[in-house]
Amino acid sequence: MTSLWLDRPPIEGAGEFVPEARYDTVVVGAGLSGLATGLLLARGGQRVAIVEARAVGSGTTGNTTAKLSLLQGTRLSALRDRHPLSLVEAYVEGSREGQAWLLRFLEEQGVPFQRRDAYVFSVTDDGARQLSAELQAAREAGLDVAEAAATELPFPITAVLRLDNQAQFDPMDVLDAMTRDFLAHGGLLLEGTRVHDLEEEDGLILRTSRGRLLADQAVLATGIPFLDRGGYFARLHPSQSYAAALRLPPGTPVPQGMYLSVETPARSLRSAPGDDGELLLIGGNGHATGKEPSPQARLDEMLDWGRHHFDGAEVTHTWSGQDYRSADRLPYIGPMPFGGGRIFVATGYDKWGMSTGMAAGLALSAEILGGRMPWAEALRDRPATSPGLRSGLAQNAAVAVDWAKDWVSSRFLSPPDAHEVVPREGHGVVAHDGGRPEAVSTVDGRTCRLSAVCTHRGGIVRWNDAERSWDCPLHGSRFAPDGTVLQGPATRDLVVDSVATGAATHEPEE
Ligand SMILES: Cc1cc2nc3c(=O)[nH]c(=O)nc-3n(C[C@H](O)[C@H](O)[C@H](O)COP(=O)(O)OP(=O)(O)OC[C@H]3O[C@@H](n4cnc5c(N)ncnc54)[C@H](O)[C@@H]3O)c2cc1C
Ligand code: FES
Repeated sequence: MTSLWLDRPPIEGAGEFVPEARYDTVVVGAGLSGLATGLLLARGGQRVAIVEARAVGSGTTGNTTAKLSLLQGTRLSALRDRHPLSLVEAYVEGSREGQAWLLRFLEEQGVPFQRRDAYVFSVTDDGARQLSAELQAAREAGLDVAEAAATELPFPITAVLRLDNQAQFDPMDVLDAMTRDFLAHGGLLLEGTRVHDLEEEDGLILRTSRGRLLADQAVLATGIPFLDRGGYFARLHPSQSYAAALRLPPGTPVPQGMYLSVETPARSLRSAPGDDGELLLIGGNGHATGKEPSPQARLDEMLDWGRHHFDGAEVTHTWSGQDYRSADRLPYIGPMPFGGGRIFVATGYDKWGMSTGMAAGLALSAEILGGRMPWAEALRDRPATSPGLRSGLAQNAAVAVDWAKDWVSSRFLSPPDAHEVVPREGHGVVAHDGGRPEAVSTVDGRTCRLSAVCTHRGGIVRWNDAERSWDCPLHGSRFAPDGTVLQGPATRDLVVDSVATGAATHEPEE
């Protein structure tokens, strides 16, 4: 699947890797967070390299729905349930600064974006009650959210909130402009370079797939951090969700607001300009990564919903992306524990990274350059004994149970013999090879046999029939059918046993 945004030529500007070169700061990851941080540091006079495992935007930023909104579903009431008002205000302040900076930048650079009103709607009475709580939390936090009477949506709702004058854009246009500005300020972009590890000696040493780089500081803008320090794996919950672009029949108006439902499964809608007229984007149906028996069924259900409400809609693109929710629902932006004040992280945006990723760029660059952002300090210094810690521990226990269950079933529940299995095109099966779990898939006529053991911490990967990838249910690492890491925290590919083309299909019975 390719997103509407990534269906274009790649962003240019990658530079030359010089082994052992030293930088003031190495930023790992070229999504919105990494480019925002790198560009602000380069503008501040630092020598900066941004190191990206794949290509600019290939992570979540290229697979988002790109609404830049301070009205974020029921986020503020969820935060208010867990935190004092001052922390909710700090979160809103950071998002507001991120949004304002980004819009100014887009105006300066001539990047197109659309001003739109943002809406959160409900279709049940329970959802309407959640909206009342959200209205109260939003007003308490200083947002001018109002109740609206109706929407332009073609189905009945029970309540709706509105925040005027928010924005939407094409995220790859934004990354393109950021890359150009970063390069113009002397930054170096290194694509196709995965950081495997980071050590502290005199300065920092980053071990990458192309050799070592040296730095005084490092920023991990990689979604979930790949380093173990700070227990982020236990505190972050990876979730995969879906989006699609629809062309509506002539005469059917495309809704102009940016919408999100409060109910589950979430339903998100926005418009997107296109060369052949405006498209409707729909999104939602998220689930924990690696735990859904058929991600394709989740996508199909969302598409059915779209076609049901927008009769005659033609699907032009479908895609999915992964983002991380922290146990206490606030992002982690700041120095990493046990990082000596030189390693920084930005993660846990809970699907609101357009404003929060930019806010992270502002906060981390200020901290590295010696400035202060009071809202970021408040978030960074929040107590670890919040209700989030309990939920983090519970999540960790659930991860341990998943791990044990997968290992037991891969050993004792008679999985098929890996050497006898040849899955149908587009399918994958966890089989066994002398007691070792083996991931076997057939994609584009190639049957790949890999170790099914995730290279991060030993989870057993599961087949994702929508993305045709192997996904780890423990902390959300994802791998291509040939074993290549697509998303961390894993930094090493799955071990390949064999690759064959043109073998006859032979699947185990269901
Ligand atoms: C379907 C969907 C819809 C969304 N809609 C919205 C929305 O409407 N509004 C909103 O505000 N937010 C939305 N979000 C969330 C938002 O897109 C993300 O929070 C944001 O894009 C995260 O940006 P990032 O730069 O932190 O991460 P990413 O864009 O994922 O960038 C991280 C980069 O790091 C690279 N990387 C990882 N590990 C390594 C390594 N070891 N070495 C080198 N490079 C590495 C990756 O390849 C990747 O390019 C949505 C998310 C999803 C999934
Ligand atoms: S992602 Fe941690 S074990 Fe797989």
